[in-house]
Amino acid sequence: MCGIVGYIGKEKCLEKIINGLESLEYRGYDSAGIAYKVKNHIRILKKEGRITNLKNDLDLQQDSFIGIGHTRWATHGRPCQLNSHPHQVGAITLVHNGIIENYEELKKELQYEPISETDSEVLAAYINQMYQESQDILSVLSTLEKKIIGSYALGILVEGEDKIYAIRKDSPLIIGRSEDGNFIASDVPAILQFTKKYQLLLNHEYAVLEKDHVIIFQDGKEVEREVLTFVGEKEATMKNGFAHFMLKEIYEQPKVIYDTVQCYIKDDYMNQMAFLDEFDAIDIVGCGSAYHAGLVGASLLKKYGDIPVQVAVASEYRYTKQFYQKNHLLIVISQSGETADTLAVLRNAKEQGIHTLTIVNVVGSSIAREADQVFYIKAGVEVAVATTKAYTCQLALLSLFACYLGIKRGILKEDVLSLYDDLGSQIETILKEDALIKDVAQFIQNKNDIFYLGRQVDYALCMEASLKLKEVSYLHSEAYAAGELKHGTISLIEEGTPVISLLTDEELFLKTLSNVKEVVSRGAFSVIITNQEIMDKTLYQKMIQLPKTLDLTGGILVMVVCQLLAYYVALYKECDIDKPRNLAKSVTVE
Ligand code: AGP
Repeated sequence: MCGIVGYIGKEKCLEKIINGLESLEYRGYDSAGIAYKVKNHIRILKKEGRITNLKNDLDLQQDSFIGIGHTRWATHGRPCQLNSHPHQVGAITLVHNGIIENYEELKKELQYEPISETDSEVLAAYINQMYQESQDILSVLSTLEKKIIGSYALGILVEGEDKIYAIRKDSPLIIGRSEDGNFIASDVPAILQFTKKYQLLLNHEYAVLEKDHVIIFQDGKEVEREVLTFVGEKEATMKNGFAHFMLKEIYEQPKVIYDTVQCYIKDDYMNQMAFLDEFDAIDIVGCGSAYHAGLVGASLLKKYGDIPVQVAVASEYRYTKQFYQKNHLLIVISQSGETADTLAVLRNAKEQGIHTLTIVNVVGSSIAREADQVFYIKAGVEVAVATTKAYTCQLALLSLFACYLGIKRGILKEDVLSLYDDLGSQIETILKEDALIKDVAQFIQNKNDIFYLGRQVDYALCMEASLKLKEVSYLHSEAYAAGELKHGTISLIEEGTPVISLLTDEELFLKTLSNVKEVVSRGAFSVIITNQEIMDKTLYQKMIQLPKTLDLTGGILVMVVCQLLAYYVALYKECDIDKPRNLAKSVTVE
């Protein structure tokens, strides 16, 4: 996703902006650019590719105290220098994160012929045209929303003004505050090296930043906005000796899962979860890995809570007619709290009067602010595009919901919570004893198609395991319901096809094992990840044995193995692990 960083202050701006953009690299991008004022002239430099290409052509020490920078993740128009930001039209120079859906209509109102392929340039021209008529940028910003359909977070420079203007609708933007100046940024990590103080710019608001002053406007009127302090350590955005953020975050899981669980079980757990008694049906919605976490959570909630739960991807759910029951609960899961489709589902449900709860990681994110109930996970800043620790923290929190319902129904005792005491050491053991995982990674790194097989909760885990491998290693893999394989896809199994089977569901163990036999008899390279005993050694080339535990935490252990497997395959293939091609950390566009 695009990244925005701007600075206005007493100190030089270029190095701050570039460093801020580098902190946002994890969001994914294909070009970068910067606009900065030297004396009273706005200079623009933009380059395709990495930020270093920009840095190489910049004198970071030159006297410039106002600037806006941008990393572009292409939506409208190819990744190229012409399409990259900032875009300058007339008196207006801007950087944009989001999608302008009505940019073709806007174009028709312009006395200007765009030179790029982007919606952002059309927006710059439109704002400039309004500004030329009124000569009042604030009045332009106060009416922009009436004209623009889509999402935007904008940093704007106006010719002749020593100010930065910021405005947002459905794309995130925060304002950093410090003694020596003020920032705009798409996300907190961009400013942490300069300040931990920030203000939220809420949806539909705009702001004016001067070097020692910030005014925020809501519905055209000045509003006071609390200055927040980021809670968390700056080193969250540093690798601290790990080769990649992804590996660091895999290794952080014992701690962050403990922090997440303790936040809810250390005091008054039953009361904190008692809200669940009010509901007769649950929908769980998310995208990507958040959706996969929902699938695992749904399996546990149905089993222990005896409650109907349906799970859907947000981009489908939002366009599907819902037949909400009385006392229906919608749970939206999101690490970033800014995923456009998930946010849209939340808003639609609230309009229909459905109670909404979010499981979210980023404090103060749009989804966190707009849900009726917020259950934070404590994963800390997750930098790698491929989520690991946030996903397992989501599983842990969902299992706490299931535990509560199981205890209330008398099928679990309160001492089941001691399960979580062992989880950290169980994960540590997997992290330490990863030789077998590396062996499997060596074998599959040159394969074209890898199958993950499982049933029920193991199938849900296969979905995430497969996504992890695809995301970071670019190997094609497929998660398959083990019982479904023989209905067609088994035709793809040939000598040496890697098939990774997840067998942690005790009741279905033998059934899934028979599916393993089917693929082995066709020459598959069989890897089994299980917490059960397997006597027949002909059923696998490699077996990764996990400790026996309840399914409430068993999925987390399986996923740590699969995360490491994906990581090592990507490492051996020398992929760009923390910033996989085409991917963004937070998909704030639809
Ligand atoms: C996870 O590895 C992916 N990068 C992606 O599927 C992600 O889970 C999805 O975009 C949802 O993001 P969110 O949790 O921030 O809403």
